[in-house]
Amino acid sequence: MIGIICAMAQELDKVLELMTNKSEEEFTSFNFVIGNLNNHKCVAVLSGIGKVNAAICTQTLIIKYQPDIILNIGVAGGIDDNINIGDIVVAESVVQHDFDISAFVNRKKGEIPGIDKIKITCIPCIVQKILTTSRNIKGVKIHKGIIASGDQFINCSNKLLQLKNEFDAVACEMEAGSIGQVCYVNKVNFGVIRSISDNANSDAKIDFYEFIENASKNAARILYNFTQSI
Ligand code: ADE
Repeated sequence: MIGIICAMAQELDKVLELMTNKSEEEFTSFNFVIGNLNNHKCVAVLSGIGKVNAAICTQTLIIKYQPDIILNIGVAGGIDDNINIGDIVVAESVVQHDFDISAFVNRKKGEIPGIDKIKITCIPCIVQKILTTSRNIKGVKIHKGIIASGDQFINCSNKLLQLKNEFDAVACEMEAGSIGQVCYVNKVNFGVIRSISDNANSDAKIDFYEFIENASKNAARILYNFTQSI
């Protein structure tokens, strides 16, 4: 079974449009939608925004459905200069940019105690498969890189430069890092497909609302192609 987690309704709706034979199951505070994507059994769910919401949702999904893989689908702010609105970023790894205990212990910024890592790596063969199955989609540019998550909507050039310099991040959002951590400790395969809705700068709010629908559609399309190929 493939678990699909989206933070916002606009993102989830585009995934649900592609799923067939859907039924719903409420469990704790989540509404899980079970169905098929290209003959693969899937469960899709709205986590809500932010790392804690996403972590609760991921752990709940794992306990209830024991998925073989969890994919985080949605939109992100672009950090790199050559990443434009509408482009796709496939995470090679995720970091939690706002996790910082360096002031009181000898840990690097972003390093998560317990697992002792800064970056959580996505399963390389999944990343590769997503990239190869998406390359021939007309009009959509695909990138691979580090996605930085934090409980902040980034709309400031200084902050995005910091994410680039400190973590080498190419995109920012608010959930993938925590979903990755939960998958890592539960030994569940994990991947992230995000489409760029804004450039995390002073125009980010306006761009985000203008492009969220289209970017969400692009991300869902890549997910669809990926499920077709496995
Ligand atoms: N998701 C989409 N755009 C974002 C941004 N600028 N900051 C954080 N999360 C986002």
